[in-house]
Amino acid sequence: MPEPTAKPIAKPIAEPIAEPVCASDALAERGKAVVWDVVQWGRPARAFALRYEGRVVSYLNRCVHVPTEMDWQEGEFLDMDRRWIMCSIHGAHYEPETGRCAAGPCGRGQLTPIATEERDGQVWWQPTADIRPVAFDEPGPAPDPAPDSAPDSAPDTAPDGAPDGSR
Ligand code: FES
Repeated sequence: MPEPTAKPIAKPIAEPIAEPVCASDALAERGKAVVWDVVQWGRPARAFALRYEGRVVSYLNRCVHVPTEMDWQEGEFLDMDRRWIMCSIHGAHYEPETGRCAAGPCGRGQLTPIATEERDGQVWWQPTADIRPVAFDEPGPAPDPAPDSAPDSAPDTAPDGAPDGSR
């Protein structure tokens, strides 16, 4: 009698672990956002979280109109009335609760949401297959090239005009 073939055991897919953003009290109602680095599709990007109507909302810091960062100062995303997320480049207005474009050159676009939750006085974000935390071994920006030699024409006078070695 043939042995019953064993069924392969499916490996559970590991859920990405939630990552800390900041302490809950770092986000005041309609206040300054917390901005942090992420990696989207293997490329460096930034995300931000702010509190609106008591809830923490979070998006990629990338305008739908032109893929550029939107804050007019680090963490400042809301307009003067603290009603809309506003892109500082051409003034696109986004609904804070949904990230949908409400006015301006962003058309029918929507900001890319980042899932966040508050737990035990801490704000957490949930990485996905597309948007991940920055790994410690992630290659950073290329360093500035080191100077390979002294300048071609070194000055032969001291800064005050006195010849070298004359003092
Ligand atoms: S880049 Fe944001 S409105 Fe143009």
